Amino acid sequence: MKALILSGGKGTRLRPLTYTGAKQLVPVANKPVLWYGIEGIVAAGITDIGIIISPETGEEVRARTGNGDRFGAQITYLLQEQPAGLAHAVKVGLPFLGASPFIMYLGDNLIQSDLKVFLHTFKTQDLDALILLRSVSNPSAFGVAKIDENGKVLQLLEKPVVPPSNLALVGVYFFSAAIHAAIDQIQPSARGELEITDAIQQLIDHQKKVEACTLEGWWLDTGKKDDLLEANRIILDTLDPCTQNITQADVDDRSQILGRVQIGARSVVLNCTIRGPVVIGEDCHLENCFIGPYSSIADRVTLIDTDLEHSVILQGAKIVGIHDRIIDSVIGRRAQLTVAPKRPKALRFLIGDDCQIELM
Ligand code: DAU
Repeated sequence: MKALILSGGKGTRLRPLTYTGAKQLVPVANKPVLWYGIEGIVAAGITDIGIIISPETGEEVRARTGNGDRFGAQITYLLQEQPAGLAHAVKVGLPFLGASPFIMYLGDNLIQSDLKVFLHTFKTQDLDALILLRSVSNPSAFGVAKIDENGKVLQLLEKPVVPPSNLALVGVYFFSAAIHAAIDQIQPSARGELEITDAIQQLIDHQKKVEACTLEGWWLDTGKKDDLLEANRIILDTLDPCTQNITQADVDDRSQILGRVQIGARSVVLNCTIRGPVVIGEDCHLENCFIGPYSSIADRVTLIDTDLEHSVILQGAKIVGIHDRIIDSVIGRRAQLTVAPKRPKALRFLIGDDCQIELM
């Protein structure tokens, strides 16, 4: 069994963050989304992993993620020249996959469930495809499945205007090598992509063994700002209640650290109140700040005279002088926010990398 993780694509929905970086590397609780997928796959016992990358962000994904040693896996990078669809990505992966069955995992998806249970179903029932379904309130934004009263999959449609059910396809699929012949049969969709939903439909139409499982735990597609904040909140909530890891940081005695808080090496915290769950990376400087629950602050961030909560601050960002609380915000890498003394009362941001903002 192998795994194919899709980490190419365009990432238009998280723009402007993804103009300059891979959306799969956007951190959730200071760890790239992609890495949660890799860890889940390795935990299910699969260590031979191919990662689809794009010409624009592939080098960054490769440089951050490495050859797999840190995960106890072996990673092969596979370049997809154009984001021509999920089924096209499988075509690109074919030399790596060979005749092996595989898990296909979308690199911007986060799921709570243990993959072992699904892998067991896939293997013991000798399936050609196992798909995971989850009921959602906005099925038109996803691939959607129509199933009969026994749970048998009848039809799959990609982002239908009139969805036949509220059951969305989760971005984790299990395939036998039969998927390759099915992909060879399909044509690009109206949006110009080779859709994996169409390939699975081919399997169904040719009486191959396709089953669906319902996903019980949480599932997040981190391609949008609110989903990213939600993913951050959920992962921070899983921090061990006894976790307070601040040993290699320099925290002065005017600061108060409350609850589940991690602060990385060489970070300096002066006269701050930090109320967990919060993670703070390495080499940060925090001074006269309130950092409220569900905040993730990446490496090399500077926060001075600033209050925030329920926000994600990426590497190297700098915020000075915002005591009106920043909430529900994502601040891009190296972004700078400085504020004049008279300013508005509520602030909500999605700010891309390298921005500089002054509120007057
Ligand atoms: O998140 C689940 C949904 O993912 C499913 O319900 C849909 O059926 C499925 O098509 C997919 O829809 P998205 O619109 O969310 O796919 P997206 O374009 O965001 O791509 C998903 C991941 O695959 C993302 O990490 C980028 C990567 N990708 C995408 C394309 C189109 C590639 O590596 N190559 C590609 O050509």
